[in-house]
Amino acid sequence: MTGAGGALGGAIAERLAGDGFRVAVVDIDRSAAEATVSRIVEAGHEAVALTCDLREQAAIEEVFAGAEEQLGTVQALVNNAAIFPSGPFLEVETSTLDDTITVNQRAYFLTAQLAARSMTNTGGGVIVNVASIVWHGRWDNLSPYVASKGAVVAMTRALARELGRHDIRVNGVAPGAFPTAAEAAQHEDLEAYEREILQSQALKRRGRSEDVAALVSFLCSDESSFITGQTINVDGGWIMV
Ligand SMILES: NC(=O)c1ccc[n+]([C@@H]2O[C@H](COP(=O)([O-])OP(=O)(O)OC[C@H]3O[C@@H](n4cnc5c(N)ncnc54)[C@H](O)[C@@H]3O)[C@@H](O)[C@H]2O)c1
Repeated sequence: MTGAGGALGGAIAERLAGDGFRVAVVDIDRSAAEATVSRIVEAGHEAVALTCDLREQAAIEEVFAGAEEQLGTVQALVNNAAIFPSGPFLEVETSTLDDTITVNQRAYFLTAQLAARSMTNTGGGVIVNVASIVWHGRWDNLSPYVASKGAVVAMTRALARELGRHDIRVNGVAPGAFPTAAEAAQHEDLEAYEREILQSQALKRRGRSEDVAALVSFLCSDESSFITGQTINVDGGWIMV
């Protein structure tokens, strides 16, 4: 899984390892990936840390081959790594747009292609793409990020449609607002933002990374064997459509 050194990614990796998956913890940040692996191994489960810059196609291909060599044929892929540049649309630099689309969308496409090629030879599998509720369009100053996440939702549907005949399910998970370092970096007045979040959510508590991990776990399990092409919000009832 990608971005598994991060806040939500770490929790997802730990949960999947607990479910019995041998997890490839892929991240550009080596020490973050190793920290996730340490927690997994301490809990008695199996994982390896793999460093990869998901902006590079050759690096993606290399890390994918390395993961299969060390852990066996891929059964589930979780695309989770993302960057979140903020700023007004009128001032977005093309390089910022390119970077965001490359990490948040293109890498999801490329990893899914590699995984699906492998899964078609082994009788099926599962792909989970981490999106965000932002694609519903209520947030300012995040246009490259919002565009990339909307693309992830659309791509999830397109891949589910084409890969269903190979017994490959493709679903998305759209987190709401979680108290992570990314949130702290993006909001100057965190107390005001937290008040806004709790007012917007139907449930009056902050989300926990375990809430996202539980949904990914479900989508990677046979319990969801008749669900594909869906992007499910895990947001305390913020968005209802
Ligand atoms: N935190 C939230 O509230 C929230 C809300 C909605 C959606 N999400 C989504 O959840 C996912 C995880 O978010 P998070 O809050 O854990 O973020 P995070 O920043 O903690 O984790 C993202 C991880 O991706 C890695 N990464 C970034 N660029 C990379 C690259 N080029 N190559 C390889 N790895 C790279 C980072 O090193 C980091 O470990 C993202 O897809 C994000 O869009 C998060």
